[in-house]
Amino acid sequence: MARGLTRFVGRENSMAALMEAYEKAKIGTGQVVGMVGEAGVGKSRLLFEFKHRLPQEFGYLEGHCIHYGGAMPYLPILDLLRSYFEIREGEREMVLRKRMKERIFGLDSIIADLFLI
Ligand SMILES: Nc1ncnc2c1ncn2[C@@H]1O[C@H](COP(=O)(O)OP(=O)(O)OP(=O)(O)O)[C@@H](O)[C@H]1O
Ligand SMILES: [Mg+2]
Repeated sequence: MARGLTRFVGRENSMAALMEAYEKAKIGTGQVVGMVGEAGVGKSRLLFEFKHRLPQEFGYLEGHCIHYGGAMPYLPILDLLRSYFEIREGEREMVLRKRMKERIFGLDSIIADLFLI
């Protein structure tokens, strides 16, 4: 149990649904899960507990929405990409390009092969 948190109770069905989505995603069937509930009902905590049940080697990325973000296309996706490529403010484009290329090619040798043909 993480420090400062009450013992996690209940939510078996919700956790099972999240784990089921994870299992499907793992075998290549991408999943989207929506979580909706009253303020304070436990959405963030459920996500926190779920994250901690994932294997360490599992890549976990977060993207955030903001209530005035509707006019910004792909906002949460950009967040995900920024964290995956570790893009920092003011970084030089060349450095960034190099890192992105390495990460993308590192995902699967098939990708590198496609680009080298
Ligand atoms: N299943 C649970 N067992 C124990 N404590 C819980 C559980 N769910 C939530 N809590 C506790 O209740 C409090 C509120 O939960 P949480 O912040 O996850 O709610 P939320 O739905 O994300 O709220 P908001 O809509 O305001 O973001 C937290 O202190 C959290 O640790
Ligand atoms: Mg919350």
